[in-house]
Amino acid sequence: MSLLDAALDASIVFSFDRTGFRRHARSFVPGDLDVRLDGAVCLVTGANSGIGLATARALAARGAAVRLLCRREAAGREALEAIAAETGNRDLRLDLLDVSDLATVRRYAAALPDPRVDVLVHNAGVLPAAREVTPDGLERTFATHVAGPWALTLALEERLRRAAPGRVIFVSSGGMYTQRLSLDDVDWSRRPYDGVTAYAQTKRMQVVLAELLAERWRGQGIVVHAMHPGWADTPAVRSSLPRFWRLTRRILRTPEEGADTVVWLAAARAAAERTGELWFDRRPRPTHLLRRTREDPADRAALLEACARLTGAP
Ligand SMILES: NC(=O)c1ccc[n+]([C@@H]2O[C@H](COP(=O)([O-])OP(=O)(O)OC[C@H]3O[C@@H](n4cnc5c(N)ncnc54)[C@H](OP(=O)(O)O)[C@@H]3O)[C@@H](O)[C@H]2O)c1
Repeated sequence: MSLLDAALDASIVFSFDRTGFRRHARSFVPGDLDVRLDGAVCLVTGANSGIGLATARALAARGAAVRLLCRREAAGREALEAIAAETGNRDLRLDLLDVSDLATVRRYAAALPDPRVDVLVHNAGVLPAAREVTPDGLERTFATHVAGPWALTLALEERLRRAAPGRVIFVSSGGMYTQRLSLDDVDWSRRPYDGVTAYAQTKRMQVVLAELLAERWRGQGIVVHAMHPGWADTPAVRSSLPRFWRLTRRILRTPEEGADTVVWLAAARAAAERTGELWFDRRPRPTHLLRRTREDPADRAALLEACARLTGAP
């Protein structure tokens, strides 16, 4: 990497923005995404909008059997019809699923008609303005980004294994770089609620979960990746971070640019040979930029314990 590239990456802004994507794209390996995925079953949560929609479309364009896991029927149906019209792919299905609702997740996984799952993308994300609690009594960002994905992944373990390599992808966020893993007051009952911090803490948890699951399944036919998309212009950014959006909208990535590394991790042959890393623009990246965010083994054990206890999935 040149000194200029290193300086631009260190600036964060000129790395996470669209100039960062275009600069990083100059090092992409040509042909990595010239692959067909015919018959590969790909599950994408939150596939009706933004990065999830762009991911589902790109996988469908390569022939994959894409399952759009959406919580709103009308929005999911609209996305499915648009993808079918654009790609000509007929092996698409809308699966209604609220990933933050654990009972629904369990029922969904148990009844899934596909005998194998090649790719599971945990893309669904939320940044609530105020503390919300799900029917399971969990704070909403934790339920959506951590508990639901954990329960879904474990419930699909055998199906992922049948695809060997099954690929699990957590769509995290660069915001997690600001946070140290902490399971202290995970339900925000002892602090004033701060949605941005809750979001970033649970995005940190996703990165650690990817490492822990990768360790658990190393050599067993399932690889687990975390990635972050940089800053992309999506409905979530406009509605949840309106000031940030107004300031940055001219430099934001397209949803397709934000989704590029998700698609690469799902489809590229090279990504099937790696596991347990954090990716950004098709390159593995450090999981910490600050010494103060480094967790210790006890924090990691606490995350596993909390996931098992709160979801009932050991
Ligand atoms: N855009 C960025 O710059 C950026 C940066 C860092 C990380 N990310 C991550 O990228 C992912 C996608 O975000 P986006 O920017 O593309 O936002 P988006 O356009 O708002 O998409 C979020 C998707 O998640 C779905 N969703 C939320 N809660 C759900 C639930 N409980 N069950 C099922 N689906 C649910 C939403 O469904 P509804 O339409 O029904 O709300 C929507 O389809 C998120 O995980 C986000 O944290 C984005």
